[in-house]
Amino acid sequence: EQVPLSLKVNGVRHKLKVEPRTTLLDLLRENLNLTGTKKGCDYGQCGACTVHVDGQRVNSCLSFAVMHDGKEITTIEGLADGDKLHPMQEAFVKHDGFQCGYCTPGQIMSAVACVREGHAGSEGEIREYMSGNICRCGAYTNIVAAIQEVKD
Ligand code: FES
Repeated sequence: EQVPLSLKVNGVRHKLKVEPRTTLLDLLRENLNLTGTKKGCDYGQCGACTVHVDGQRVNSCLSFAVMHDGKEITTIEGLADGDKLHPMQEAFVKHDGFQCGYCTPGQIMSAVACVREGHAGSEGEIREYMSGNICRCGAYTNIVAAIQEVKD
């Protein structure tokens, strides 16, 4: 049985009906067509699905959409301001914070939260905060450099 759900996603209010077992990740990708948020593992191990819920980062594969009724979701599609990239997106481009790019949306959403929550004080602190976001290409050094640039 489907249940009603109201979410604000990237500033747009959506009223939907979803199965209670639908994850936030599947809702974003399948119902709202916001495919910037990636499905890597689908069980909380890779961070590719990271989004913000009321400003807090969340692995969207691990939470049911219905848990977020009335909340505000930000995905990678919501970071830029029109044609102007978010400073963290600019920094990832400048420092080559990616190779294949699959993990990048999740990396950037975590990186924004890292700086916002004050966990970017040192390289060690950044690496610790970002440890849930796996990059199979190993772009970690450049990702850290991007974060350090934004926090300065
Ligand atoms: Fe959610 Fe891997 S897809 S942590």
